[in-house]
Amino acid sequence: MKRLLFTLLTLSLVGTTFADEGMWLPSLIAGRIDDMRSKGFRLTAEDIYSVNKASMKDAVVLFNGGCTGEIVSPEGLLLTNHHCGYGAIQSHSSVEHDYLTHGFWARSRAEELPNEKLYVRILVRMEEVTDRIASGEQPEALIRAAEAEGTGYKASIEQMYYGNQQFLFVYEQFDDVRLVGAPPSSIGKFGGDTDNWIWPRHTGDFSVFRIYADRNNRPAAYSPDNVPYRPKRHFVISVKGIREGDFTMIYGFPGNTQEYILSDAVDYVVNRADPDKIAIRTGRLDLIAAAQASDPALRIHYAAKHANIANAWKKWQGEQLGLSRTRSVETKRQCERDFQLWADRHPEYAGLLSAMKAEYARMLQPYYAYEITRETLGTLPTAYSNEERSDELFERCRPTEQALFRHAFASYAAYCPEPYRIPEFLDGVAAAGSTEAYADQVFDGLWQRTDTTAIVRLDKAKKRMLNHITWLLGTTSLRNPTSKRLNELYAHYIKGLREWDTVRAFYPDANLTLRVAYGTVSGYEYADGEYHTPQTTLDGIIAKDNPEIYDYDIPQALRDLYASKDYGRWGISVDGRRTVPVCLLATNHTTGGNSGSPVLNGRGELVGINFDRTWRSTMSDIAFDPAICRNIAVDIRYVLFVIERIGGAGYLLDEMTLR
Ligand code: ARG
Ligand code: ASP
Repeated sequence: MKRLLFTLLTLSLVGTTFADEGMWLPSLIAGRIDDMRSKGFRLTAEDIYSVNKASMKDAVVLFNGGCTGEIVSPEGLLLTNHHCGYGAIQSHSSVEHDYLTHGFWARSRAEELPNEKLYVRILVRMEEVTDRIASGEQPEALIRAAEAEGTGYKASIEQMYYGNQQFLFVYEQFDDVRLVGAPPSSIGKFGGDTDNWIWPRHTGDFSVFRIYADRNNRPAAYSPDNVPYRPKRHFVISVKGIREGDFTMIYGFPGNTQEYILSDAVDYVVNRADPDKIAIRTGRLDLIAAAQASDPALRIHYAAKHANIANAWKKWQGEQLGLSRTRSVETKRQCERDFQLWADRHPEYAGLLSAMKAEYARMLQPYYAYEITRETLGTLPTAYSNEERSDELFERCRPTEQALFRHAFASYAAYCPEPYRIPEFLDGVAAAGSTEAYADQVFDGLWQRTDTTAIVRLDKAKKRMLNHITWLLGTTSLRNPTSKRLNELYAHYIKGLREWDTVRAFYPDANLTLRVAYGTVSGYEYADGEYHTPQTTLDGIIAKDNPEIYDYDIPQALRDLYASKDYGRWGISVDGRRTVPVCLLATNHTTGGNSGSPVLNGRGELVGINFDRTWRSTMSDIAFDPAICRNIAVDIRYVLFVIERIGGAGYLLDEMTLR
């Protein structure tokens, strides 16, 4: 009843308050601060971002170019997700020291493990340079000058609003980052792919690192002489917990969103790209899962591959469901009609939408061919390494690998539109007699290394076709080729949108630059009559625990702690039972790259580490719906509980500031 009342109250508030949509540039956060304070933030814009004094930004790091991390001690101790530190943890693991399975805890500084190629970046400053570039200054010169300002400085110029604004970002990059601790995968990856993108969630998705610097506290390549980095700022940790309705803020590096795209593009994603890419991946996952079920060694061999394929596969399904359920295409169409009525009276914008729609009509087919090619032929190995071949498992993988070839060839033939089919592929099929025969022929040559020229030839032809497509689109970017012309039109469109809609709060799409998102701890109406509360506990882990199911087989130590209820200072009382908090749900607008981001309370204290979103929330990359879009974080108290009670590494807590 209390819950229902709460939901009704929140619903009645929607419309009068701002939605929690938005990823804001820290240097411009002053423009949001009143709204933030009305929601419970107690600090100032200067506390979030300042170039003159230490601010929160000095404690946030871009972790290895794709995740976020936060500094939590005066000695450079760093928290991020387990799935972000996974590569590092794996690289130190062997059969004798299986840190992935059993976890790892450095018992002293000397035991902290260096990682080749792992780096973090801390933002020194960001500055708008639109006018300077417009008046003739060269971007490269700006970057060079900024990089000359300090040791290890890296700079880049990033486009906001499709290039309407340009910002210079200056970072300090640290290349000596050492592994300090990681929970066993049965905690750090608890729930695995089954629970991925799902709430309620019980994953202890965290790992611990430390930044090292030279004796002058400057970035340096790894050296045994390096010492722990002394940050300008570290986050204080709140152990008091957080409750539904409390303010939360996420400070991190969201990677990529497309909030302003036209209905044409959303329609393409929902009705064409997502369904076909999902179907193709379902086929691959079925083949891999069958192999895994048949052989325990293959289950491990294919674990990382399966997880990778399944992550986006599951995300797209949620995105498709969320976007169709909220009728995003129709909503956008209506918005475009309204914009057009306004544009008809503004000659500068009158023909814009039809020009954009014409460009979509021209480019969507080749773009689709591009996506299909990448999802099919683009997933095939062009060589099996000597390491793989010397593995005694190699022969046992053969039927699966061959089946994956057949599946990729068949899917390519079925989905890739006619004019973008690779001529060499068609010739190969014709000569072999069938797509399957051609797949077998190419595969056999590669597997036995009798004729690897066939796969090399196909690979070259594939690259030629992809290049041809990006040429058609007018861009050279192979990673994410949207058309160059479309990009220019979008820049103009955003300008128009901002003139037309003076009420909406605009924010630039995510582009792996530092952002602030804020909202509140909040559950949501999962289904009619089914409200999901925003906090999970150890009891939920115990309820899922099952030694027979790999994803749910928890460490014995956790079972023992549950049995003895020996939770120490981490125990909380929920409806009269003793338990430990595990994960949190909130309304912050996040995306890929926000993994590992600090979740902060109104005082700027760390209350959690962000790591995921709920399934249907993944639509927030394209359209944020405040009713269903939620981010998922691991409660910092669970992190500390695992470090202390499971890892026996309570000494790490001594260097943190707990409040
Ligand atoms: N869905 C989260 C994010 O995109 C976590 C991914 C890692 N976990 C997994 N089971 N694959 O990236
Ligand atoms: N799991 C994502 C990441 O790794 C976060 C998200 O997409 O919500 O960054």
